[in-house]
Amino acid sequence: MSERVRVMLSEEEVDRRIQEIGEQISKDYEGRQVHLVCVLKGGSFFMCELAKRITVPVSLDFMSVSSYGSETKSSGVVRIVKDLDEPLKDKDVLVVEDIVDSGRTLSYLMEMLKDRGPKSLRLCTLLDKPDRRVVDVNVDYTGFQIPDEFVVGYGLDYDQKYRNLPYIGVVELD
Ligand code: IMP
Ligand code: MG
Repeated sequence: MSERVRVMLSEEEVDRRIQEIGEQISKDYEGRQVHLVCVLKGGSFFMCELAKRITVPVSLDFMSVSSYGSETKSSGVVRIVKDLDEPLKDKDVLVVEDIVDSGRTLSYLMEMLKDRGPKSLRLCTLLDKPDRRVVDVNVDYTGFQIPDEFVVGYGLDYDQKYRNLPYIGVVELD
């Protein structure tokens, strides 16, 4: 069986949208410093591209979480694999994710981060699959709402592959 990737969102479309979100964030955080929290590994490509387009001062931190449960269904109980280096106390924190699917991971993570006392806490995701939502998550910035298809590229993987694709695609088996 061979795998092919069908393009869902081209590199140009993704770049243009990240530029728009970057401009919006720069306006919303005018006069402040925004502290970007990247959720590894998926969020890393998006965060780098986004950070380059934000014109207010930016600081960065990274965390890695794994969700208990099967490969295809997250349980919503999140284990921290790599924690942040710095405290969030009194910072304007913007969490940067690749995708919100069921919402289980993000709702758990956002609650956990809120307990660390940031001045503000918002969420930015490149992709959102609203049809799949099981748990409510308040998303402040969304790149694209997409249909319920398994996507790869721009940080998203299928069996750890395809994260490096500069566009969003759907894996097709034939
Ligand atoms: P949630 O807890 O169901 O919202 O799971 C979100 C996580 O599942 C994301 O951070 C991704 O790592 C993974 N995920 C969900 N949908 C996709 C997809 O279409 N492609 C690749 N990974 C996905
Ligand atoms: Mg992720």
